Amino acid sequence: MAETHFGYQTVDEAEKARKVRGVFDSVAPNYDLMNDLMSMGMHRLWKAAAVALANVQPGDKLLDIAGGTGDLALAFARKAGASGTVVLTDINEAMLRAGRDRLLDKGLALPCMVCDGERLPFPTGYFDTVSVAFGLRNMTHKEAALAEMCRVLRPGGRLLVLEFSKVAAPLQKPYDWYSFNVIPFIGKLVARDSDSYRYLAESIRVHPDQATLKAMMKDAGFGHVDVHNMTAGVVALHVGIKC
Ligand SMILES: C[S@@+](CC[C@H](N)C(=O)[O-])C[C@H]1O[C@@H](n2cnc3c(N)ncnc32)[C@H](O)[C@@H]1O
Repeated sequence: MAETHFGYQTVDEAEKARKVRGVFDSVAPNYDLMNDLMSMGMHRLWKAAAVALANVQPGDKLLDIAGGTGDLALAFARKAGASGTVVLTDINEAMLRAGRDRLLDKGLALPCMVCDGERLPFPTGYFDTVSVAFGLRNMTHKEAALAEMCRVLRPGGRLLVLEFSKVAAPLQKPYDWYSFNVIPFIGKLVARDSDSYRYLAESIRVHPDQATLKAMMKDAGFGHVDVHNMTAGVVALHVGIKC
């Protein structure tokens, strides 16, 4: 079997999927609180910027992949309105349940589906917009996942990939210190799990940087790709147009 990264470890591909599942089973109950604490609330701004750039219109059909607790799906549903369709998907049942319950608490009953971003059970050319926020990094076959995302978009549709990326050089050292000391410490304190949060920091370091991901998206079939750095490259939003 082929090998891949799980953070800094090299593991069999099947083992990576198991380990990623273990991470998100463990973090699901505290996911939203941990997101706010670790990013000091900034994940809300990163997601708000992604939603603004998505330019969602009433009646649009949107797919959120690796959607977890549903932040993007919620914002998209508000913009797409009653005539629109927003599908929330994730490979992890615990994360998706948390997302579905949260949306229901806000009065939104969206279709929610457990599915792998690498094999999407949707017809070709169906969606106006596809998003994946902080999820691509965890996938084993990123090229296959990007090709699937391209397949399910209509011509002219856009893919939004919001993901941790390569931070600007002057911030590298403090960012590394924060990632490998503060984040696992908060994880231990709040979720009694420092390992999952150490994986988070490691997985960011082995994820393709801005230029590499842009090239991967072009290879997957996106004719045009824009890259928007946020917080000095801590996060980047890649917007791909299926031309
Ligand atoms: C860091 S969370 C992001 C959740 C949400 N998108 C957000 O921004 O808050 C990453 C999500 O990716 C999901 N995931 C990992 N591998 C996946 C795959 N192959 N297909 C779909 N989802 C996956 C995990 O289950 C987890 O819910």
